[in-house]
Amino acid sequence: MRLLANKRILLGVTGGIAAYKSAEIIRRLQDAGGSVRVVMTTAATEFITPLTMQALSGNPVHLELLDTDAEAAMGHIELARWADIILIAPASADFIAKIAHGEGGDLLSTLCLASRSPLAIAPAMNQGMWRNASTQHNIERLRGRGINIFGPAEGSQACGEVGPGRMSEPEDIVELTAALFETGALAGKKVVITAGPTREAIDPVRYISNHSSGKMGYALAEAAAEAGAETVLISGPVNLAPPDRVRTIPVISAQEMYDAALSEADGCQLFIASAAVADYRPLQVSEQKIKKSTDTLTIELVKNPDIVSAVAKRPNRPYTVGFAAETANLEDYARGKLERKNLDLVIANDVSDRTIGFNSDDNAVLVVEMQSSEAIPKINKSILARQLIAKIAEMIPE
Ligand code: C5P
Repeated sequence: MRLLANKRILLGVTGGIAAYKSAEIIRRLQDAGGSVRVVMTTAATEFITPLTMQALSGNPVHLELLDTDAEAAMGHIELARWADIILIAPASADFIAKIAHGEGGDLLSTLCLASRSPLAIAPAMNQGMWRNASTQHNIERLRGRGINIFGPAEGSQACGEVGPGRMSEPEDIVELTAALFETGALAGKKVVITAGPTREAIDPVRYISNHSSGKMGYALAEAAAEAGAETVLISGPVNLAPPDRVRTIPVISAQEMYDAALSEADGCQLFIASAAVADYRPLQVSEQKIKKSTDTLTIELVKNPDIVSAVAKRPNRPYTVGFAAETANLEDYARGKLERKNLDLVIANDVSDRTIGFNSDDNAVLVVEMQSSEAIPKINKSILARQLIAKIAEMIPE
């Protein structure tokens, strides 16, 4: 199974002889389905060339913090936002000390400061340096901040000594990286998610629809599956590949989505309505293509059933989450929706901002409950999905 499918891994390489193994790490991350961008410190370039890393990763290697060309292509903040995870392998004693103290003097340490994604490091150094009290203190500090420490392994070292400090093997590092996404927070639960637009037929060739790309719902389904849930994705027509480990039910119209949702809601503990369901459908669907004749054409529309409200009305209702795409008064409208539709949570986003929402890869949301709300600033949709799933998993009653 490609456990890192659709994952964006920022591989940081610092100066140490184990840097030659970073080339192998890139390959193995890619074999597991991940896409990789490499950031190297100046010291790392003494051990392995950026050209090697560029050829293997298929992306330009990032070296400098203050590089105008690189900033124009993908600036350091965008790079930090791009990453689903930052993996630093090898992580030298010097670099570990740097991040333990929150320093940001070069590109890689700045990315560690700027990113809100998980950070994992694979230390590699001489056994004496590893055992040194300062290094151990720094490692404990990082562990305390939730940073994942992979290894180091024990054995013979390049310097001729024997002991702990060798970088873990690339295959182990990649396995541990993949395991970070498998949280198990929804193990034993059934999750049903609606996603994408619906299409409401006017005649055999025309329909009413909207610009929903389905990206948010698909990212949520992937995150729910990673969290161990039996995941069902009821999807309107989109241009996305069905996620691994998810049972995807393709539908076209709101009525089909409604039927599938109500039948799947049985025995489900979490229902997330991220679909942009068409509010209305044509009252009559013409059997033949409507011919162009009169100057005006009137199509009478009738309201579609509200899927999420219907699920929330059921006797053994699941924990029910809705979305609210708004252009103003985000919190007020979201709270209104929460009450009106009897939801547990509403995830609201501002669709007047074209850099987020509908077709974008990024989103920024306001998570609204009856008594409180929390803003999650702009971040890529898969990271956001994982954060939302982790948050929701804590709220679902046992
Ligand atoms: O009412 P409005 O469309 O603004 O509400 C948005 C929320 O309701 C979303 O979670 C959407 O998936 C859900 N919805 C639904 N069925 C509809 C309309 C909206 O499930 N017919």
